[in-house]
Amino acid sequence: MTLHDNTAGPARDWDNAHFLHPWEGMESIGDNARTFAETARGIHVTSESGAELLDGPAGMWCMQLGYGNHEIAEAMADQARQLAYFSPFNNSNSTAARLAHEIAQRTPGDLNRVLFTTGGSTAVDSALRFVWFRNNILGRPEKKIIISRQKAYHGSTHLAASVSGKERDKGWLDQAPGVAHFLPNVNPLLRGAEQSVAAFLDEKIADLENAILSLGPEKVAAFIAEPILASGGVIVPPEGYHKRCIEICRKHDVLYISDEVVTGFGRLGHWFASEEVFGITPDIITCAKGMTAGYVPMGACIISDALIDSISGEASKGATFSNGFTYSGHPVSAAAALKTIEIIERDGILDHVRRMTPLFQERLRALGDLDLVVDARGKGLVGAIECSLQKGSGADLLEQDYTVGARIDARCQELGLLVRPLINMCVFSPPLIIREDEINAMFDMLEQGVRRAMDDLAREGLM
Ligand SMILES: Cc1ncc(COP(=O)(O)O)c(C=O)c1O
Repeated sequence: MTLHDNTAGPARDWDNAHFLHPWEGMESIGDNARTFAETARGIHVTSESGAELLDGPAGMWCMQLGYGNHEIAEAMADQARQLAYFSPFNNSNSTAARLAHEIAQRTPGDLNRVLFTTGGSTAVDSALRFVWFRNNILGRPEKKIIISRQKAYHGSTHLAASVSGKERDKGWLDQAPGVAHFLPNVNPLLRGAEQSVAAFLDEKIADLENAILSLGPEKVAAFIAEPILASGGVIVPPEGYHKRCIEICRKHDVLYISDEVVTGFGRLGHWFASEEVFGITPDIITCAKGMTAGYVPMGACIISDALIDSISGEASKGATFSNGFTYSGHPVSAAAALKTIEIIERDGILDHVRRMTPLFQERLRALGDLDLVVDARGKGLVGAIECSLQKGSGADLLEQDYTVGARIDARCQELGLLVRPLINMCVFSPPLIIREDEINAMFDMLEQGVRRAMDDLAREGLM
């Protein structure tokens, strides 16, 4: 047996005994029945029981080109054979240098300087550390507060988690004190019955400006925002939100960090969504996930020339940005990313996403008619349904609402679809290569899954 021959029965026992998973629930640790996938092709994974499941969330919003892509696998293998590693600290490798060049060609404005990281959290961490570093060099060490938003998710390192605003994730872990200020939720669904979307938008913009003014512009370093708050439940702020936010930031000398870990690399039909979809040129973009189509870990923090220029040469006072990783610009990851870019371009994947979007969004919105679904929202090839057992009542979530996402997921899996349950929501962001008939199949299963979950709830007298 080779060490990765995991088809044998004990894998579940090994998993329960030794694998500490992300977001591990400590009450049930060691006693989990997680789905195992053993193989995958295209947009489907095959579970250990042989069930073929359409991968609704594309892994964790990362498998842009689906599974079993031999071209990416070969590019990685070739690179590993040729040069598996070379330290990025005092040296470089041409694969990563080429990737930095290719990324810079695709970013908005003068975002031309790429700091490679190991994933999204380390990209966000690096962005925040860079912003602080710059303010230290500029002689304003008190300008450090990061403004973020409720429901934001920026990662799981201490600093990235400290600027994340998902309340349920924060209770049991310490936060870096004094780092972040959180703005209220920007989900238009939460506006009062009498409030127009335009008035809600004005309020959210005022939230940002008031926060900067009350904290003091001399103390606020940056605003960090996902274009769409993905893990927070695919929250799409009102039209024009980002443009107005960046204007406020510019007015008060506050940097704008656009966290495109989910929206980057094609999810909304463009390399990056900041400029092409939302009309803004941020100061820093962070990305990861889709960058290597999920084949191997990698992230990037992309910084504007203007920021770099403001603290380089004479202005730098001899400073070193002491931040980076053993695996920054790892050649094998860089080879996977270059191949991903090549395939996305050659196969017209960005166009394909834009062509598929109307059908995807139309099928998504139609789910809003179901009795359990309070909201069906999304953009590009990302969507979420939010559910409540008391649809229309406007009341707070019931305890049973918290189980609805998992109930729908379980029913969808029976039908051959994986979704990502998030409390009372399910989110989905399939591989970008999904075809029209597969989008229809996905939503047929999703609708059926929600109906089955509703039948279960009715049988239990809950709706
Ligand atoms: C917007 C955003 N930023 C950062 C991260 C963290 O990325 P990673 O899990 O690769 O560290 C995520 C992960 O889901 C994310 O959605």
